[in-house]
Amino acid sequence: MKINGKPYRTIWVAADGWSVEVIDQTKLPHKLEIVALKSADDAAKAIKQMIVRGAPLIGATAAYGLAMALRADSSDESLEAACAMLAETRPTAINLRWALNEVASAVRNRPRDERVAAAYARASEICEEDVETCRRIGENGLPLIEEIAAKKGKVNLLTHCNAGWLGCVDWGTALAPIYMAYDKGIDIHVWVDETRPRNQGASLSAFELSGHGVKHTIIPDNAGGHLMQDGQVDICIVGTDRVTANGDVANKIGTYLKALAAKDNDVPFHVALPHTTIDWTMPKGVGVIPIEERSADEVLKMTGRLPDGGLATVEIANPGSTAANPGFDVTPARLVTGFITERGRSAASEEGLLSLYPERRPK
Ligand code: MRU
Repeated sequence: MKINGKPYRTIWVAADGWSVEVIDQTKLPHKLEIVALKSADDAAKAIKQMIVRGAPLIGATAAYGLAMALRADSSDESLEAACAMLAETRPTAINLRWALNEVASAVRNRPRDERVAAAYARASEICEEDVETCRRIGENGLPLIEEIAAKKGKVNLLTHCNAGWLGCVDWGTALAPIYMAYDKGIDIHVWVDETRPRNQGASLSAFELSGHGVKHTIIPDNAGGHLMQDGQVDICIVGTDRVTANGDVANKIGTYLKALAAKDNDVPFHVALPHTTIDWTMPKGVGVIPIEERSADEVLKMTGRLPDGGLATVEIANPGSTAANPGFDVTPARLVTGFITERGRSAASEEGLLSLYPERRPK
């Protein structure tokens, strides 16, 4: 997608042919800064500090991190240590473990002198596959928006967190159908949940949507229920960090409350996901998916832009109070109207997922 008319992806190999560059998402929307990652440690830091974030992009960054670890030392010990180090950076998004497994499987049985090239090749494929997967998610989600437009003219869609191109390599998951609807001339308006405490909606989704020209309004996280009750939301589409075999959905904290409000108001609630986000090893998600507990500082402080353009972090809470900060929640499959994947749409259930991925049916 474009920033100020220039096409960008979120991650790419630098001109030196081996280091990796990413957009620093902690600085958006105020500053566009590119950060160079030159080692597996740099990749791990970028994931932990949320310089990169969003399930597919976390996976892509970890894949290149592993390639850089092998460039420094192509031994089995280095491979296993880098895998373990990168895997523990963020616990909830399953794409991270998927991508590490993909790169590790591509190199494990190769002689050492072939490992670096094989790792970079698989990491690059993971990125290309993600772009195509997200494009197809967009195509498969578009009819949902077209149906509403055909009935009502204007479409009001609500989304939570950032599941746009900044959370992937390009296009995005939940936002891809929106971009395609806009490009087809559909009158679409997006309610953007601000998504406290890191404000991925207010800072990242809003940045993306305005870059593409899509009408949108940032709302406090608590406003969605009221807007649904008031008939101002036609459809919700969100992304996800892990979907379990039964269709339970882990996503940014607050998603569950939106799904509950959507159910109570008969608003369709769809989840957009690539196959890399499905955890086939977990039969159910509620109470089982590991939920990342993030720093209390994210709740107690906030970073913003000063009138002189500089960034500053200020305290916003009562001094001395403590804060809890679970980063994700799990929405039970029964609250999800359907899934939008690169293979098409399905019910949010084991049978629904298996209808799209029949190769996963137990033999
Ligand atoms: O903590 P984050 O910003 O990595 O959380 C991201 C989300 O919850 C996204 O909705 C999800 O990863 C899907 S990104 C296409």
